[in-house]
Amino acid sequence: MTQRTPLERELLQKAAQFLPGSSNGNTKYPDQLDFLVKEGRGGRIWDVSGNEYVDWLMGSGPMILGHAHPAVTDAVLSAVSRGSTFFANNDQAVLLAEDLVNAVPCAEKVRFTTSGTDATFQAMRAARAYTGKEKILKFEGGYHGTHDYAMMSVFASAAVEFPQAEANTAGIPDSLSDLMLISQFNDLDTTAAIVAAHKDEIAAIITEPLQRTIAPEPGFLEGLRKITADAGILLIFDEIVTGFRLAYGGAQEYYGVTPDLCTVGKIMGGGYPLAALMGSAEVMSVYDRGAVASDSYVDQIGTLNGNPVACAAGLATLEVLRQEGTYDRLRHVGGSIRRALAGACEEQGFTVQSVGEDGIFDIFFAEDPVRNYRDGLAADTEPLGKLNAGLLERGVLKSWPQKFYPSVVHTDEDIDRTIEAIREVAPTLRG
Ligand SMILES: Cc1ncc(COP(=O)(O)O)c(C=O)c1O
Repeated sequence: MTQRTPLERELLQKAAQFLPGSSNGNTKYPDQLDFLVKEGRGGRIWDVSGNEYVDWLMGSGPMILGHAHPAVTDAVLSAVSRGSTFFANNDQAVLLAEDLVNAVPCAEKVRFTTSGTDATFQAMRAARAYTGKEKILKFEGGYHGTHDYAMMSVFASAAVEFPQAEANTAGIPDSLSDLMLISQFNDLDTTAAIVAAHKDEIAAIITEPLQRTIAPEPGFLEGLRKITADAGILLIFDEIVTGFRLAYGGAQEYYGVTPDLCTVGKIMGGGYPLAALMGSAEVMSVYDRGAVASDSYVDQIGTLNGNPVACAAGLATLEVLRQEGTYDRLRHVGGSIRRALAGACEEQGFTVQSVGEDGIFDIFFAEDPVRNYRDGLAADTEPLGKLNAGLLERGVLKSWPQKFYPSVVHTDEDIDRTIEAIREVAPTLRG
């Protein structure tokens, strides 16, 4: 069991005093397990009390090279010494744009933002500007950040009929629900029917190509590509998580389906505040005042867009990822944990559904396959909660409630320690 020093206890009290809900809105652990991170190296982090954790949360995805990777740290220190931000175009952003275009199949032009939320917001706006239509179709349970259009039917009650959208946070104007249409992931029939009924109003379909932890079934992404192309609407892949994770060219390379637009973030910023919207030169021309009529032009400005320090971190990260064998190692690390996790739970008599890919995954405690958000609602969340807490008590941190983010730098010892913890916790999950 982890111990807390007086200093960490005092800082946790200050978090409660100064931050609403004691947090920045990200994960808040139960009081007896709560901690404050002090530092990280490779696949491990340490809290203020000095407790060590094998980290599978990895900053919620960006840290595919582990914490404080020397190549990234050196690039950042060098960039910082040349100045923090300029607003004028900078060399690092232009070079990173080139790397992104070379990596990602749909990308011919790049627009940087500082968060994934901002990137998906821009993707939807660009699609509206390009098509002259207003509605966006998204999938129930899909997460695209926290702006008003994204926070629809993310945690839907499932009492709502498709394509009705349900706002999932207070503060969203009621009228915006009518601008979003909701369909079911891995369900081409429902999606095709909604598109047929609303084709003249829909600007784009946006999807995480791998939704949270649920992989697309063979043919699903291909089907979306065909439905959108036939209807003259845009297909947007939100690759904030999958970009540079499933493969160097993201989910579009891994699954072999190319959208019109995509968003990337997390890994491409090397752990710094950076994301981007990318797509064909034609669609991205909406950002070029000289190329489109004024009623199609999208004005997008951001003080820190393409920040040179963040772009330097991104450039260094992508350079390491291009080395031979990185994705084999990532999949080996992930695959080892994945198999052990499902195996240990099955040995205890649980039926579990192993979901995702080796680069990002988890399990559902469910009798039937989980193909979409509603299937996931049928899963038993109690053993999963106990698993998460039991692992954390043993110094193994993962994303709550779901997701393991393997990295290229997790060592065999990190894997062994995690598997040992999984085997210790699995027998405690019942009752
Ligand atoms: C698929 C997806 N899209 C968008 C976002 C939003 O990114 P950010 O947290 O940088 O705003 C996230 C964040 O986890 C995400 O997973």
